[in-house]
Amino acid sequence: MKILIFVFSIVIGGFTQASDFEYVGSNKCKTCHKKEAKGAQYVKWNESRHGNAFATLMSEAAVEIANKMELKTAPHESPECVGCHTTGYAKGGFEIKDAAFYAPAEDDKAGEKVAKRMENLKNVGCENCHGPGSEYKSKKVMQAIYDGTEKGDGYGMLTVSKETCLQCHNEKSPTFDKEKPFNFEENMAKIAHKIPIEAPTK
Ligand code: HEC
Ligand code: HEC
Ligand code: HEC
Ligand code: HEC
Repeated sequence: MKILIFVFSIVIGGFTQASDFEYVGSNKCKTCHKKEAKGAQYVKWNESRHGNAFATLMSEAAVEIANKMELKTAPHESPECVGCHTTGYAKGGFEIKDAAFYAPAEDDKAGEKVAKRMENLKNVGCENCHGPGSEYKSKKVMQAIYDGTEKGDGYGMLTVSKETCLQCHNEKSPTFDKEKPFNFEENMAKIAHKIPIEAPTK
């Protein structure tokens, strides 16, 4: 019995830890990360394929793939597809919802808020790479992480590496080219969004 309680508390503990950090959606990063002088990360992302990955699931090409796989639902409503084309799916982020969810009654402010959040969790967002942003997105925390006076991981911010990319850029993707293994440097160059000023020493 003691062992059982012990195991149980680890599981519960694990869950509370995971939910300490919430996915807030890429539009929450826009306010502070759209200026040209600071690298316009949001603008670059919004025009990139990551920033438009959800619409891809509604393309003819996507429907064709889904038909071949004999999926019962449209690609943008299928767990087989949304995992890599949205933000934080099955990790407290994006969830598959019906049309009614996205069209709450006019006086339903709470419904409006959750629908807006979900809308902004479509696409491969900032938080897929940088981690769920609820705790690090305040100006004070962001500046401290950038200056190196605080560590990002205590606030849910992840260190991005090749492994981050390989979560989605792998053979489970129906369009993955097996002849061409994922080249980290080459692909990083394609999504580069650096701050164009000299970074402080960390
Ligand atoms: C209230 C403003 C604000 C918001 C909102 C914000 N940031 Fe930042 N962020 C900053 C500032 C300020 C810096 C320091 C660099 C600079 O001046 O641009 C920074 C730096 C960063 C860095 C570099 C950290 C490092 O280790 O050097 C990343 C990555 C980042 N932000 C990602 C995000 C993401 C993802 C979101 C949305 C979930 C977000 N930010 C939301 C203000 C903000
Ligand atoms: C959550 C899943 C996910 C993660 C994590 C991810 N990607 Fe992607 N990536 C995608 C999807 C999906 C597309 C295709 C989007 C589309 O075309 O609609 C894509 C497309 C791309 C493209 C454009 C393809 C091309 O040939 O031009 C580049 C470049 C890219 N990713 C680089 C990266 C890099 C670098 C990382 C890691 C730092 C990364 N991705 C992490 C899902 C992901
Ligand atoms: C394991 C992650 C993953 C899953 C699951 C996934 N995708 Fe993708 N998808 C990607 C990545 C990464 C790309 C970028 C090209 C590549 O490397 O395959 C992409 C690109 C695409 C493209 C654009 C291809 C192009 O080159 O223009 C289509 C269409 C697409 N996916 C449809 C789907 C459909 C439909 C499903 C579900 C049946 C699906 N994807 C499931 C990761 C995934
Ligand atoms: C596909 C993964 C991926 C996505 C999506 C992504 N980033 Fe990044 N981001 C990275 C990587 C990788 C770096 C470089 C980290 C490094 O050099 O240490 C980075 C660096 C940054 C930096 C610091 C740049 C510097 O020069 O110090 C900021 C700020 C940032 N990202 C903000 C964002 C914002 C805001 C979004 C969404 C609008 C976003 N990122 C989307 C992977 C991503």
